[in-house]
Amino acid sequence: MSDHEKSSNVVWHNATVTRERRETMNEHRGGLFWFTGLSGAGKSTLAHSVEESLHQQGYRTFVLDGDNVRHGLCADLSFSDDDRKENIRRVGHMSMLYVEAGIIVLTAFISPFRADRDNVRKIAGSDFHEIYCKASLETCEDRDVKGLYKRARAGEIPDFTGISSPYEEPEYADLTVDTESHLGDCRQEVFDYITKSTRNSDH
Ligand code: ADX
Repeated sequence: MSDHEKSSNVVWHNATVTRERRETMNEHRGGLFWFTGLSGAGKSTLAHSVEESLHQQGYRTFVLDGDNVRHGLCADLSFSDDDRKENIRRVGHMSMLYVEAGIIVLTAFISPFRADRDNVRKIAGSDFHEIYCKASLETCEDRDVKGLYKRARAGEIPDFTGISSPYEEPEYADLTVDTESHLGDCRQEVFDYITKSTRNSDH
């Protein structure tokens, strides 16, 4: 039995306030919009600015951000391959609780490994939308907003994505946005994609 299958004697409790009822009340569907890309590619900036526009138009939203989640729920995890896998697993499940609550979730995690992102796709099914924030390592390193690339190059941070740990580009992203230069255009593209994907069509 794997560590994640220890709770075998528990039974799912069905809510009477269902996702469908929540979505009817919200006037839009929930969904998981998974931003992936290098550190400094603009995932958090984009997620927060799109959330701002959605919120202003009455959408129920929440942003889950790697840097924040790693202060609490995932504070016990490092940046080893296994710990990143566990980070993404937890966030995938947590996101789906929000989606069940009818929320549009925007996540900003490097999530460098294809297999880990695919596992979230398995958990979330058609609610999962992979958004690749595409910017070159050179640009992200030039930006170096947090000064981490410089420290990683100096050998002070182990397993740093793009430097000493790989980033696997998505092969079939649902949306790829060019965050190298046109962040304004990306905002509109992502906003349009999310509003289209969460339209309440069948109820
Ligand atoms: S993930 O790989 O597990 O998805 P996550 O998105 O949670 O990473 O955290 C990435 C953030 O942690 C980066 O934006 C950066 O600020 C910080 N960080 C600290 N150490 C590392 C590292 N070794 N590799 C990448 N990011 C790191």
